[in-house]
Amino acid sequence: MNAIETHQLTKVFPGDIRAVDGIDFEVKEGEIFAFLGPNGAGKTTTIKMLNTLIPPTSGTALVTGLDVVKNATEVRRRIGYAAQDVGVDEHATGKENLTLYGHFYRLDNKTIKEKVKEIFDLVGLTGSENRMVSTYSGGMRKRLDLAMGLIHQPQVMFLDEPTTGLDPQTRASIWEYIRKLVESKGMTIFLTTHYMEEADRLADNIAIIDLGKIIAMGTADELKKSIGGDVVTVTPCQDTDEACKEFVSRSEAALAGKTFITGTKSTNHELAVYVNDGASAIPSIMHFLSGEGIEVKTISMSRPSLDDVFLKYTGRTIRTEEGSRTTFAQLRRMRDRRQQR
Ligand SMILES: Nc1ncnc2c1ncn2[C@@H]1O[C@H](COP(=O)(O)OP(=O)(O)OP(=O)(O)O)[C@@H](O)[C@H]1O
Ligand SMILES: [Mg+2]
Repeated sequence: MNAIETHQLTKVFPGDIRAVDGIDFEVKEGEIFAFLGPNGAGKTTTIKMLNTLIPPTSGTALVTGLDVVKNATEVRRRIGYAAQDVGVDEHATGKENLTLYGHFYRLDNKTIKEKVKEIFDLVGLTGSENRMVSTYSGGMRKRLDLAMGLIHQPQVMFLDEPTTGLDPQTRASIWEYIRKLVESKGMTIFLTTHYMEEADRLADNIAIIDLGKIIAMGTADELKKSIGGDVVTVTPCQDTDEACKEFVSRSEAALAGKTFITGTKSTNHELAVYVNDGASAIPSIMHFLSGEGIEVKTISMSRPSLDDVFLKYTGRTIRTEEGSRTTFAQLRRMRDRRQQR
């Protein structure tokens, strides 16, 4: 049996905002499954439908074999949830926070006591149980938040951006705790992230989501292999202004139709060129660009990353989405224009 299964799951908010737009995916028991996507992709909305906080507009979702609408109460008993915003009480100790959750789930005092000890150990907070949460660091709060979703031994744990805003070291330690949950408890983890590295390093399977649709799905390796070969990134200018954009499109035009190139994608300031063999392609790329009078500022070669996968399918990078103020409506128009081409 799959831990999670969706069929054409859809959520439309008032104003015809199709936050989640007919998605199908399966998560196997005991796996870590990541939803990778930029701001506004529909990650939190999906999580909220799966954990019964909001009803789907249409389509279905099964969690541990149970329909999230018809069997909402039982689904809630079987799952844990750490929301995007940390939901711990600052003015209580870590232990008090966790104990309160135990009571929410109607566990008896003895079980709560045992669980509190076990979970603090699991998330690496032993020794800080009796400190006020207001004295915890950001990473400790995140770990306490994760701990609170674990008190009732859920079969499936939903983590909405478990490491956003944390430094790389704390992020790595949270990854370790997540892995421990899977290994020691056989739990299934569904997490969302906009960090490619997080999905890459942690997840068994990844769905890349953009504007409410799953645009690619598979293991990190499968997704990267779907691009094939190497990626040569050419930066023909240093700024991100209009002139730079023009340089990029001239570069793309100069390389169009060359047989050693399997594809190109441009952003405002750089051009990604997909080739089978980067080392032999770089001199040719330089040759064709200089032939058009384009002076290359930097050129680099890499194996495809998940960002390249995202770029290939959407024409945008996840990186540039962070902190961008592009509205959902603008992004949808961009997608529609792309589909019309
Ligand atoms: N209650 C709501 N009413 C109207 N629109 C909403 C509501 N909740 C979410 N949306 C919209 O749905 C889209 C998807 O939002 P969602 O929160 O699921 O994205 P996300 O992928 O979690 O983004 P982030 O990475 O910023 O957390 C966005 O355009 C958002 O503005
Ligand atoms: Mg979100």
